[in-house]
Amino acid sequence: MTPRDWPIGRKFVAGTLAITLTAIAFVSVFLIVSEQRLVRAERVANTHALLGMVANNAAASLVFDDEAVAQQILAGTTAEPTTRAAALYRSDGSIFASFSAPRYTSPIPQSAQPSGAAFTADHLDAFADVLSSGKKVGTAFVRTDLSAMRERFRGYTMTVLGCSAVAVVLVLVLARLLQRLITQPLLSLSSTAAAVTQKSDFSLRARKLGQDEVGQLVDAFNRMLEEVETSQQKVRTHAASLEQQVNERTARLSEMVAEMEAFSYSVSHDLRAPLRTIRSFAEVILETPAGRDAVTGHHLRRIARAAQRMDRLIVDLLAYSKVAKTELKLEPLDLDDVIDDVLADYPQFAASGAEIEIRKPLGRVLGHNAAISQAIYNLMANATKFVPDGRRPAISIWAHERGPNRRLFIRDNGVGIAEEDLSRLFRIFERAQNAAKFDGNGVGLSIVRRAVEKMNGEVGATSALGEGSTFWLELPQASPP
Ligand SMILES: Nc1ncnc2c1ncn2[C@@H]1O[C@H](COP(=O)(O)OP(=O)(O)O)[C@@H](O)[C@H]1O
Ligand SMILES: [Mg+2]
Repeated sequence: MTPRDWPIGRKFVAGTLAITLTAIAFVSVFLIVSEQRLVRAERVANTHALLGMVANNAAASLVFDDEAVAQQILAGTTAEPTTRAAALYRSDGSIFASFSAPRYTSPIPQSAQPSGAAFTADHLDAFADVLSSGKKVGTAFVRTDLSAMRERFRGYTMTVLGCSAVAVVLVLVLARLLQRLITQPLLSLSSTAAAVTQKSDFSLRARKLGQDEVGQLVDAFNRMLEEVETSQQKVRTHAASLEQQVNERTARLSEMVAEMEAFSYSVSHDLRAPLRTIRSFAEVILETPAGRDAVTGHHLRRIARAAQRMDRLIVDLLAYSKVAKTELKLEPLDLDDVIDDVLADYPQFAASGAEIEIRKPLGRVLGHNAAISQAIYNLMANATKFVPDGRRPAISIWAHERGPNRRLFIRDNGVGIAEEDLSRLFRIFERAQNAAKFDGNGVGLSIVRRAVEKMNGEVGATSALGEGSTFWLELPQASPP
């Protein structure tokens, strides 16, 4: 985790600590260095004062070569407790008198040196000219011990460092307290934001802990939540009312559809009875002397045929609406059996003299027996119907696998269909140009399409004028029993 990823609280504490440590380090170094310089300067001044006194008092003893007095003056330097040794040198630099503090055994310089002070490891050596009437008569020397000064300096340093450590600890504690002041509102805001996104609950609100910028941010955030919540509520109410409207309309619509269906069903049904009556009476009258009149007979036969066509149309329309209405329960079916049943149920195909070739086995599909039978019947009826006069109808039926499906083909040797007519013929009431001279109403193929699509299948055809047609239907393949 890089410092960039640290929590805000840690960043704040670390930043504060870094700044404080830098400042304290600078101040401590400054204090310690200036204290050291101050202490040294003080020591040099003290030693010079002592040296000055020795030089003043000893001038006469040097001039008169009075060693006993010189000795006494040197011994007087012990008034200053740090004095370790003192000495007087003649003007030629040779030692004249010397004094060492009790138990101080280190040697002292054996010849005079130019006036000045020099620090060594543990003491300060200072020389000064001794003057009499403005003329140099010798040199004075004093050596003072530095251990007391060092002790004082060490104590001072320890105090500074101790104070710094206490300051750092205090800063740390304060930074932690202040950090809470700054981060708490931010943390509370961020946890609310996280809760809002996690639960998608826009009714939550962030807690405002102060009037600062974070407080303003909290206000803005809460206002935003409020707006989102109101729009969400609006959308919900709108959706609910829409759903209700849709439900109401759907209910009304299904009611209407049901009524319509019941209506058309009963109309269709009720139409068939009078049609049958018309047809029967026309046929009855045909048998009477009046019907045997050529013109009347012609008209009567037309009436009977029209009634029969209309009856056919009603039957087809009933079949069409039935396919639309009923829910088909699909089951595995053997197409060989289905074809055999169709041929058995509609003996007119065999009786028509048509040549029917079936390339068994046709395979198994998932479908509804009655619906497939109806579709195959309609296709075979067309195949035997749309044949030029005098030609013997020939029908081939075969099937093959196509992906997960099975496609059943029914080919004829009929009049064929023009390319431009092919696509619309599966719609209700659509007939091709060349179909006019054949009986029909254009409902059959639409029943085929509806039935096959109800079974999750597809239908289609390929043809060319005068070359026969191939109709196919494709259904999901069923596994062998
Ligand atoms: N096997 C076919 N050969 C030629 N034309 C066909 C064939 N099957 C269907 N058609 C054309 O498609 C039209 C629609 O067929 P269909 O819906 O069964 O109506 P209908 O048989 O009552 O005419 C037919 O009128 C005809 O023009
Ligand atoms: Mg037809």
